Order: sequence, then C-alpha cells, then structure tokens
Amino acid sequence: MKALLCDHAGPPGELTLAQLPDPVPGPGEVVVAVAAAALNFFDTLIIQGRYQTKPAFPFSPCAECAGTIAALGDGVTGWAVGERVAAWLGYGAAREKVVVPAEALVRVPGRLDDAQAAGLFVTYGTAMHALIQRAKLKAGETLAILGASGGAGLAAVEIGALLGAHVIACASSSEKLALAREHGAQEEIDYAQADLRARLKSLTEGRGVDVLYDTVGGDLAEPALRSMAWEGRYLVVGFAGGDIPKIPLNLLLLKGCDLRGVFWGDFVRREPAAHRRNMERLLDWAAAGRIRAHVHARIPVESWTEAYALIAERKAQGKVVLTF
Ligand SMILES: NC(=O)c1ccc[n+]([C@@H]2O[C@H](COP(=O)([O-])OP(=O)(O)OC[C@H]3O[C@@H](n4cnc5c(N)ncnc54)[C@H](OP(=O)(O)O)[C@@H]3O)[C@@H](O)[C@H]2O)c1
Repeated sequence: MKALLCDHAGPPGELTLAQLPDPVPGPGEVVVAVAAAALNFFDTLIIQGRYQTKPAFPFSPCAECAGTIAALGDGVTGWAVGERVAAWLGYGAAREKVVVPAEALVRVPGRLDDAQAAGLFVTYGTAMHALIQRAKLKAGETLAILGASGGAGLAAVEIGALLGAHVIACASSSEKLALAREHGAQEEIDYAQADLRARLKSLTEGRGVDVLYDTVGGDLAEPALRSMAWEGRYLVVGFAGGDIPKIPLNLLLLKGCDLRGVFWGDFVRREPAAHRRNMERLLDWAAAGRIRAHVHARIPVESWTEAYALIAERKAQGKVVLTF
C-alpha cells in the first residue's frame, strides 16, 4: 500500500511516498481503506518537529481520515466490511490503509462525501469544544472569529451560528469573508484593511464581544482582547500567524473578562464522554445537512506538496484533503 512518510524533520518536499505491507488488524481493531485523509495547519509543523506532538520517525502525517472498512479484527462487533467510516488518529492517516481501534470509528452520514467526512474531527471537534465546554456560548451572544475562513475558523462560524450566536467573521480578504458569510456569519471585518478594534466596537455598539475565538494570534490578539465585553471569554485556539502573543494582564482586570485555553486533543483524552457527546451532536447536524464541511481542495496523495503549500501560503479556505 502507498504511505506518505516523514523520516526526518524537514519541509513537505522532503516527505516520501513509500510502499509498505498492508496492515493486519489486532483484536478490537479494524483496517480502514482510506479514501481521503485531511490536512490541518499543524501538519505543516509536525513534519518539521515544531509541534507539541513529536512522533517517532518514520511516521505518516494527517490526523484524520475517512473511507470504508476493509477488515475486522477478532472480537469486533457492530461493524461490517464495506461500511463508510471516519476516524481521528492523531497522526498517521496519510496511508492507503490504516489500523484503527473499533471504538474510535464513527459512521459517515450519506450526505457527506469522503473528503468532507475526513475533515470533521479536528476543526469541528475543536469548535464544538471551544464554544460549548470552554466558552459556554449562549444564544444571542456575540462571537467574533479570527481566521474565520480557515479550517478551525469556518467550523466555528457554522457551530456558532447553529448555537444561536451573532457571528462576526474576521479574515484577511473579501473572498474569505464571503465564504464565512455563506456559512452563517452575520457581520464581517477585513483585518487586512480595517482597524479590528474600532470595527468590533462599532459592530457591538460599544459593548464589546462576548466570545472571541482566536486561531491566528500575533498582532491581532491584543486589539481583539481590548474589544472584549464585560465577562467576555477570549478563546486561545491557535497561532497560525506565527507569533505567540504576550498579553498585558491588566486588560483582563479592566475588562472583567477571561482568557481560556482550548486544547482539543487533550480534551478527547481527558474527557472522552464529553467528546463523544460533541461528536454525536455534530454527526446529527451533519446527517440533517446543517453542517457544510467545506473542502477547499481534494488533491491526490502523489501531489502532497501542492496541498501543503495551500496551507502554508495562507490560501486554504476550509479543508485541504489528500485523496487515495
Ligand atoms: N487548540 C486546539 O485544540 C487546536 C485545534 C485545531 C487547530 N488549532 C490551531 O488553530 C490554528 C488554525 O488551524 P487551521 O487548521 O484552521 O489552519 P488553516 O485552515 O490554515 O487556517 C488558518 C488561518 O489563519 C490565518 N493566518 C494568518 N496568518 C497566517 C499565516 N502566516 N499562515 C497561514 N495562515 C495564517 C489565515 O486566515 P487570514 O488570511 O484570514 O488571516 C488562515 O485562514 C493553527 O494554529 C492550529 O494549530 C488548534
């Protein structure tokens, strides 16, 4: 089988496409024939040894995938060969076949194709956890999202709108903002053109935003924090802009607001029951057609460098997916 492999820390061009023997499922495991494996921003970091998770070499990138069950290990019940499934592995999904514990599988609703299903876990899982468990977002609250057309940002636009928030999309171009609007945002701010703080203030009539979902960090963080409402919750989700901001703590005092960290991967490990409830709710929405799961590009695994470039060059909107 084909496998995209990282055998040393380096840029995407130094990954290789190798042939490996097909895997065999152990007890309680299944083999999934992967149709699509989704890339996330952290895939650009993990192959360079610049991410918090540092897998042993050689490993395959891609944290999540979708496809069909190809084989069942001993003791697996409730699943059949040929069923459409998706799974989150953490890393290692960029292979034609992967071994997955049966308990980690979810069934893919008929409305979603493989590329859409492959990208459901990290971005929507993060948005669900951030907005439900961390922000405790309430209907009618204002929710501003930095990086609103990226994978994690666009998922938050959709989930925020489904939870009844007034969603303000913030991104770096009118094209990216148009996509966020199609996915449920009611207001928009182009932070490449406009002053973020002034616009957030005017859109909230001076009150400030209740929940701020930040996937970008860098220079946007401080003006965003200065735009919080009393008892607002600022969600630290990611640093796609590259720089980890240093925050003057007096702002939290003056605003009476909270800074809340979001770490979806650890949430899954520490609170599996809450994670399962989030995923069930998400899959119900997906089955009812209430989740759009926008895929920016479906790229054959042989052209993986093109897929990585879309993310690294800030061109991706929604998900970038490798196909097999
Ligand atoms: N905490 C968690 O559990 C968790 C889970 C998932 C993701 N994350 C993090 O969230 C961040 C976003 O992830 P993602 O998968 O949504 O990424 P993505 O799809 O690539 O989106 C990132 C967004 O950040 C903005 N951006 C600003 N400067 C950028 C730069 N120099 N390079 C690339 N993008 C830049 C872009 O929007 P504009 O052009 O509009 O600014 C882009 O849409 C990453 O830091 C990721 O590690 C964290």
